[in-house]
Amino acid sequence: MSSIILVLNGPNLNMLGLREPTVYGHETLADVEQMCQRSGQAHGFTVECQQTNHEGQMIDWIHQARGRVAGIVINPGAWTHTSVALHDALAASEVPTLEVHISNVHKREAFRHHSYISLIAVGVIAGFGTHGYKLALDHFAKLLK
Ligand code: DQA
Repeated sequence: MSSIILVLNGPNLNMLGLREPTVYGHETLADVEQMCQRSGQAHGFTVECQQTNHEGQMIDWIHQARGRVAGIVINPGAWTHTSVALHDALAASEVPTLEVHISNVHKREAFRHHSYISLIAVGVIAGFGTHGYKLALDHFAKLLK
C-alpha cells in the first residue's frame, strides 16, 4: 500500500493570507503546506501538496493519483459548488478522499451549501480554519494504520 497522501487546493487558495482574511485567516498557502508536511512526517507518510487555478490541471492530477496514492485531502474551493467534472474525476480515481473547507460553508451564502464533492467524500471538515487540513491528515493516519 502506498504511503503517499495528496493535499490538493483549488482556485484562489494561492491567495490565502491576502484573500478575505476575516473569512480565511492570515496563514499563507506555504504555511498550510508546511504544516501538512510536518504532520505527514509525524505520521510516517509522504505528503504531496499541489494547488492550481485550472480545473483541467486538477483533474489530471486526480487521474494520476489512481493506484499511486493512499488518500486525497482536497479543498476544491469554488469548484466544490460547481464541478461535476471534479466529482467524476474523484469517483474515477477510487482514492479515499476527505473534503476540507477552511470556512464553515454552511454558515455562508446559499450557493456554498451544496457540494458535488461531498457525494464521493469519505467525510467533510468545514469551519476549523486551516487546522482542518491537519484534522484530515490525522484521520488518514488512523484509517491507514
Ligand atoms: C472554501 C469555501 C468555498 O466556498 C470557497 O469558494 C473557497 C474556499 C473554504 O476553504 O472555505 O474558495 O473552500
